[in-house]
Amino acid sequence: MKVIEMIAEMKEFVTKVKRQGKTIGFVPTMGFLHEGHLTLMRKAAEKTDFVVASIFVNPLQFGAGEDFEEYPRDLERDLRLAESAGVNLMFTPGVTEMYPSGYGTTVEVGSLTDKLCGRSRPGHFRGVTTVVTKLFNIVEPDIAFFGQKDAQQAAILNKMAADLNMNLEIKVVPIVRETDGLAMSSRNKYLSPEERKAALVLSQGLELARNFVAAGARNTADLISEITDFINREPRARIDYVEVLSFPGFSETENMHGQVIIALAVFIGGTRLIDNMVLEV
Ligand code: PAF
Repeated sequence: MKVIEMIAEMKEFVTKVKRQGKTIGFVPTMGFLHEGHLTLMRKAAEKTDFVVASIFVNPLQFGAGEDFEEYPRDLERDLRLAESAGVNLMFTPGVTEMYPSGYGTTVEVGSLTDKLCGRSRPGHFRGVTTVVTKLFNIVEPDIAFFGQKDAQQAAILNKMAADLNMNLEIKVVPIVRETDGLAMSSRNKYLSPEERKAALVLSQGLELARNFVAAGARNTADLISEITDFINREPRARIDYVEVLSFPGFSETENMHGQVIIALAVFIGGTRLIDNMVLEV
C-alpha cells in the first residue's frame, strides 16, 4: 500500500491511475480505524479498481472545547489494517498541507445542517463539507463510501454532491455494531469499562423504539418520551438529543409513517456518542 502525505503527489498519482482507465473508490476517515471503516474499505475494493483512503483529523469540524487534541491516533496500526482491507493508497496529509496559512474558503450546505448534530455542534458540518470537498478534488473518486452511523453527515454530503454537480457517486454502508449492539466508533476508546456497559443504552433505546413501533406506536412525541425515559434510567447517560424524523428528508413529523429515522446523541460520562435506526412504519 502506498502512503502519500502531499497534495501535489496525490494529484500526480491519481492522474496516473485514471490514465490506466481504473475506477477510484474513496474512504475518507479520521483514523483510529475500526471494523466500520474496514467494512467501507472492503466495499470500495469490491466495487472499484483502485481504493484510496485518507486519514486526517480535521480541525475545522471540531468546536471549541471538543476533542480535537485528544482524538485517538495510531497511524502504524491504521496503515496495517487499511492494507489488509484492500486499500491501495493511503493519503495522510498534515493540517498545514490541507489548510496552509491564508486558507480562507469553506463549503456550506444550506439545508439539513441546522438540526440534530448541526444544532448541538455549530459549524461542525461546515468543517465536514469543506474537508470532504477538498478531499474529493484531490482524490477525484468515482465512488465515495460513508457509514450510516453518521446518517446526517451522509445526507448532507449527498446534498452537497448533488447541488455542486460533483462527478461521483456516494454510497452509504450500514452501521457496524459490536456483538452486544454498540455502534462502532473511534470515540468508544474513551469509555471506561463501566461507561462501555452504560453506552448500551443507545442501541437498546433504539431496539425499544423498534418494538414500540412494531406494536403499533405511531405518535412521535410518545415514542421520544419512551426512549428518553429509558435512557435517563442510566445514571452515566446525559441526553443531547432524541429525535424521530422522516427519512431521508429529516423533517419533523407528528405521526410516523413511511420511513423514519430515530436519531440519538447521548453523553456517556464525557463521551458524546451517536446512533440511529431507520424504520419502515
Ligand atoms: O466521518 C468522518 O470520519 C469525518 O467526518 C470525515 C468524513 C472523514 C471528514 O473529516
